[in-house]
Amino acid sequence: QLVLDTLDANGSIPDTRTLVLPGESAPASSHDAQITILGALNSLSSRNVVTYETNETISHGLTPEGLQLAEQGSHEARVWSVLPLKGNGDAVTPVELKKLVGDETAKVGQGRAFKNGWIGKEGAGLVKLAAEINDATQIDLKEIQETGSLKAESALPDLRKRKLIAQKKGQWFVVNKGPDFSTSTAKPETDLTVDMLNSGSWKTSTYKKYNFEADGIPTNGGALHPLLKVREEIRNIFLEMGFAEMPTQSFVESGFWCFDALFVPQQHPARDLQDTFYLSDPSHSLAPEPSYYKRVSTVHEHGGFGSAGYRAPWQPEESSKLLLRTHTTASSAQMLYRLAAKCRGESVEDGAEDYVHGGAATNATNEELNKEDDGFHPAKLFSIDRVFRNETMDATHLAEFHQVEGVVADRNLTLADLIGFMRVFFSKMGIEQVRFKPAYNPYTEPSLEIFAFHPLLDKWVEVGNSGMFRPEMLEPMGFPKDVRVHGWGLSLERPTMIRYGINNIRTLVGHKVSLEGIENSAAVMF
Ligand code: PHE
Repeated sequence: QLVLDTLDANGSIPDTRTLVLPGESAPASSHDAQITILGALNSLSSRNVVTYETNETISHGLTPEGLQLAEQGSHEARVWSVLPLKGNGDAVTPVELKKLVGDETAKVGQGRAFKNGWIGKEGAGLVKLAAEINDATQIDLKEIQETGSLKAESALPDLRKRKLIAQKKGQWFVVNKGPDFSTSTAKPETDLTVDMLNSGSWKTSTYKKYNFEADGIPTNGGALHPLLKVREEIRNIFLEMGFAEMPTQSFVESGFWCFDALFVPQQHPARDLQDTFYLSDPSHSLAPEPSYYKRVSTVHEHGGFGSAGYRAPWQPEESSKLLLRTHTTASSAQMLYRLAAKCRGESVEDGAEDYVHGGAATNATNEELNKEDDGFHPAKLFSIDRVFRNETMDATHLAEFHQVEGVVADRNLTLADLIGFMRVFFSKMGIEQVRFKPAYNPYTEPSLEIFAFHPLLDKWVEVGNSGMFRPEMLEPMGFPKDVRVHGWGLSLERPTMIRYGINNIRTLVGHKVSLEGIENSAAVMF
C-alpha cells in the first residue's frame, strides 16, 4: 500500500531506500527493509500494477572481531593503554603484557603500536612513548558500523585484510507505475461467481490473467508404497513360474508349527525370549492333531525315519507356547502338512486343495505322476508376508519385516533343482549374478545362503537363505520317502531398499514415511 500511495502521490519512486515503512521512524535503508519491499514489488509487478528496476550497492559491515574492536579499541590501543609512560614507572615485560591483554592482542598490537610510534623499548620491557593517541582503527570501525561505508576509502583494504570488516551486497529499487496501476491492493478475481453476476460487481472487478504455464493441482489418487510395489512384482514372478500363493494370515503361531514341526530343537537359541516375541494372553495353543504331534515329539526325543533325533527330553510346554511367527516357514509347514493329507490316508478338507494343488509339477514325468497313487501331488507354493523378531532395531532392522518364501515339493528333487529354481527366480528379479554358500538351518540339509552381486554397491550381498527340508520334518507329516521339498526365503525390505537407494528402513516403514515421498517416488509410477 505504501508503494502504491507513494506512486500515486509522486508518480514514481526513484529510490526505495527513501521509503519510510509503516511503524518505522527512519527511511528503509537496511538490507532487511529492502527485502520486505522487494516482496511487495514482486507481487505487484506480477499483476502489472508496477514495474521496477534493481540497483546493487556494496556496503561494509563489521565481523564479530571488528565489532569487539569498535567497542573496546584496537589491539594496538589496548597494548598502549596498559603500559606506563616512559620515565613514569617500571617497563612491562612481553610476558607480563600477554597476561594483561591476552596473547592475541599482545601479538597483533605490539607491532602496530611500535609502527605508530606509540610505544618503545626500555631495558627488557615496553613503555608508552606517546602520552595521547588517536585510535584511527576504532574510529574507522565505528564509522563503518554506523554508515556501512568509510569516507577514507583507502583504509578499507587493510581493515578487510585484518578480517575486521566484510563486504555486504545490498539492493534498492526504482519503481514506476505499471500498465494496470491502481492504488487498490485487492487481489484480482480468479473466478466468476454467481454472487458477482447477481450483484453486478463483475463489471468493475479486475481479473487475474490465465497462466497457461502453471502446473496443475496434483491429482488426488492412491499410490503404491515401494514395498507393495516390489511385493507385487515378486508375486507376479512366482505366478509366472506356476506357483500358488499360500494363506499366511496367521501372525500368531505355536512353538509347534514355528519350530517343532520344522525339527528345530527345543533348546535352539532362536526360541529364546531375546529372539522371539511370546504372547502372554492367551499364552498357549490348542493341541495339534495327536498322532502327528506324537510323531514329531518322538523324532525330536528319540529319533526315527533314519535319524538319531536330539535325544533331549520333549517339553509339551515349549511346543504349545504362542508366539509371533519368526518366519513364514511356519505357514509353509502347515501347508506341507495339508499337502501330505492324502498320503496319510485322510481326505482333504474343502478349499485346502486349491492352495496345495494349485501349483503344477516341477519336473515330474507323466509316468511318475501316474504311478501307483500314494496320494502325493507335486506343488509349488509361495508366500510374501510379515514376520516378527525381537531384534535390536537400527537403520536396517525393525522388529517386523516381510518374508518372501518359495517352496517346491516333488519326487526326487535334487539340490540342482533348487539352485536352478533360484537362478530363474532371481534373474526374473533382475539379479543375474548369484552365488551359493553352504550354510546351516535346523530344518534343511543341505542349506545354502544366496549372495547376489550388487553393481552399485560393487560387492556381493546376502539376499536369501534356502535348503532341502529334512526327512525329520517331512516324514512325520506322512510324505513318501522319495518326495523332496526345497525352499528359499528372502526379505522384501532388502531388495526394495537396494532397488530404490533407501539406506534407512524408517524411510520405508513406520510413522516417518513421507506420504508425499511415496506419491512422488518413481516406484509408484513405473
Ligand atoms: N525360514 C528361513 C529364514 O527365515 C528361510 C528359508 C525358507 C530357508 C525355506 C530354507 C527354506 O531365513
